[in-house]
Amino acid sequence: MANRDATALDDPVGASLRGHHAHHARRLGGAATYQPDVATFSAVTADPDPQEWADLARLLGRGELADMFSCASVPPPEWEPVFVLEGRQMTWSGGGRRPAETGTEVVELGRDSVPEMLDLVARAKPGPFWPRTRELGTYLGVRDHGTLVAMAGERLRPPGWTEISAVCTAPEARGRGHAARLVSALVARIVARDERPFIHVAEANTGAIALYERLGFETRKPVTFRGFRTP
Ligand SMILES: CC(C)(COP(=O)(O)OP(=O)(O)OC[C@H]1O[C@@H](n2cnc3c(N)ncnc32)[C@H](O)[C@@H]1OP(=O)(O)O)[C@@H](O)C(=O)NCCC(=O)NCCS
Repeated sequence: MANRDATALDDPVGASLRGHHAHHARRLGGAATYQPDVATFSAVTADPDPQEWADLARLLGRGELADMFSCASVPPPEWEPVFVLEGRQMTWSGGGRRPAETGTEVVELGRDSVPEMLDLVARAKPGPFWPRTRELGTYLGVRDHGTLVAMAGERLRPPGWTEISAVCTAPEARGRGHAARLVSALVARIVARDERPFIHVAEANTGAIALYERLGFETRKPVTFRGFRTP
């Protein structure tokens, strides 16, 4: 495996927007954000000046959500805080339990699957997912009699790393190993292209944290997810 620079994980949004996801980015000076409907994640440089916050506000427009992903910098006071959520960043370092072979088919979810994906997200609530988030990477799903009951996919792409995200299973289909199977399939794809998987999870989501630990993920650092409304 190539030598991995984990500092890219200190600002995975900025590193993605300025690198692998540059074609999905809107940028002005040091400020960057995703195109509408792809993600509301936004980034500024490590020590932003007032102009950089003004640039980000201009990129986003008035009264829009800036999802500052573990950003240590505090925006000017006229930016209204919307949410604060404690979580952790976990990285996959090999090993972990392999999910049992059950013959359940894991399928790739194309553009036609977006309405079903949005419906599943609304029911299972894995975290932020927008109509064009799927374009950030490969999304995989499990169907039961044709109905999408579980999914997971690739999101942020800082150099050398891929974030696994939108891991969710419909309430009536939980406990059958669907999430374990999907996360493991994504880990295998990511490792095959010589990158390493990472994941973000809310601290209160103890079930998901336990699941990721069983699959070989370890905690790298605590993160604070924070959202602000632009003035
Ligand atoms: C977390 C979630 C994706 C797990 O989906 P799932 O398909 O039920 O997971 P699996 O069946 O693969 O579970 C694998 C293991 O985790 C355990 N597990 C799953 N959810 C759990 C929970 N809430 N609490 C404790 N253990 C849990 C299962 O018992 C199973 O254990 P085992 O392998 O020892 O039998 C699902 O509960 C969900 O959609 N939650 C809401 C969305 C969410 O929080 N997503 C994660 C965002 S980071």
